[in-house]
Amino acid sequence: MVCAILAGCYLLSLVTSSFCLSYGHETIGIESRSLDAIYQAALKEKGTLKISWGGDGKSASTGIITAFTKRFPDVKFNLTVDLSKYHDSRADRTFDTSNGKDDGADVIVLQTVHDFPRWKEANRLLPYKVATWNDIQSPFKDEDGAFTGCFIYEFGIIVFNDNKVAKDIVPTSYHAFLKPEWRNKLALTYPNDDDAILCLFTLIVKRHGWTFINSLVSQNVTWLRGSGTPSELIAKPPSQNELTVSFAASTRVAAVVSSKLPTEDHYVTWPQTGAIFSSTKMPETAKLFMSYIMSDEWQATASASSGYATRKQFDKNGVLNQTLTNPLGFVTFMQDRTNVERWRFQFETTLGTPQGISPLLDNNIV
Ligand SMILES: *[C@@H]1O[C@H](CO)[C@@H](O)[C@H](O)[C@H]1NC(C)=O
Ligand SMILES: *[C@@H]1O[C@H](CO)[C@@H](O)[C@H](O)[C@H]1NC(C)=O
Ligand SMILES: *[C@@H]1O[C@H](CO)[C@@H](O)[C@H](O)[C@H]1NC(C)=O
Repeated sequence: MVCAILAGCYLLSLVTSSFCLSYGHETIGIESRSLDAIYQAALKEKGTLKISWGGDGKSASTGIITAFTKRFPDVKFNLTVDLSKYHDSRADRTFDTSNGKDDGADVIVLQTVHDFPRWKEANRLLPYKVATWNDIQSPFKDEDGAFTGCFIYEFGIIVFNDNKVAKDIVPTSYHAFLKPEWRNKLALTYPNDDDAILCLFTLIVKRHGWTFINSLVSQNVTWLRGSGTPSELIAKPPSQNELTVSFAASTRVAAVVSSKLPTEDHYVTWPQTGAIFSSTKMPETAKLFMSYIMSDEWQATASASSGYATRKQFDKNGVLNQTLTNPLGFVTFMQDRTNVERWRFQFETTLGTPQGISPLLDNNIV
């Protein structure tokens, strides 16, 4: 019951704020220091800041590591990329085996949005409101500052290589990929390996039915682990493979591919959410990292490709105003684990278990 109330805070933080406060922490103020002032405070702390960064490819982290190092050269940090479902699991196990003294990370930024209300309820999160707090759209932040929606990510965008196909013939509806000319050309991320891809496929089944999935499978789709992997393979020249297009892949990979927004189908967007664990021994350094990723400097970079952001100022295309995507729908989806599991096994029944080594270990795909 408490969980349900707290989960509701995430969606309807304005409406339920009185509930949240009664379960949450005392109201905390908004950060008033500049990044440089927080940096000075961080330099007094000893140690290496541990950041768990949800993602499934090496390129998920290169930008932030480079930028943070350049901006704050004297801060020691270790940012580790792994699938959110493994980062959260590892944090929970470390918490258990350390009798609640350690969460294995100081800062955590994940896709698994259902974890945060639970961690808040267990008093495992250090409330913090970055200086740009009032510019973050209410549905994406916890009223008490326990967690913050940092970026809007998306799946369902159509990704293609325009050296392999003329841009104007790439469809903008998923159904068109059932035509014979797309046979052998499709590279898609397994829906049963990543809950945001899974959410996308539930939207597809709701719109097009299971007959669509059966027809899709008969197109000889190349199913892959890691949302970056389809884009990486599509980006290879025609001499290396004939994979040309995807509608279940990340657009945020180093390899240059073109993309188109779907014009009829529903696609997935979500707030990639961050928090500081209250077990941190480096609270100022953790605050510095949160402040930096929510600063104008980094938000401008992070929102550039999609035009969507949790911060109003950078949400040029207005993610909450879209008719074909609903970032809060993903939050609701993730909170119902019974439903998520039922869907996952629906796809696994047809596709089998995800095959291939972890995309984070694959040295052939860079
Ligand atoms: C960074 O953290 C990861 C995960 O805890 C660990 O495996 C790795 O050895 C660390 N790297 C350094 C340079 O400390
Ligand atoms: C299926 O597609 C892959 C990737 O394009 C291709 O290498 C393979 O030959 C295709 N298999 C069949 C039976 O057409
Ligand atoms: C989204 O809709 C709201 C309410 O109608 C409006 O105030 C806001 O400007 C819109 N945002 C964008 C980016 O279109």
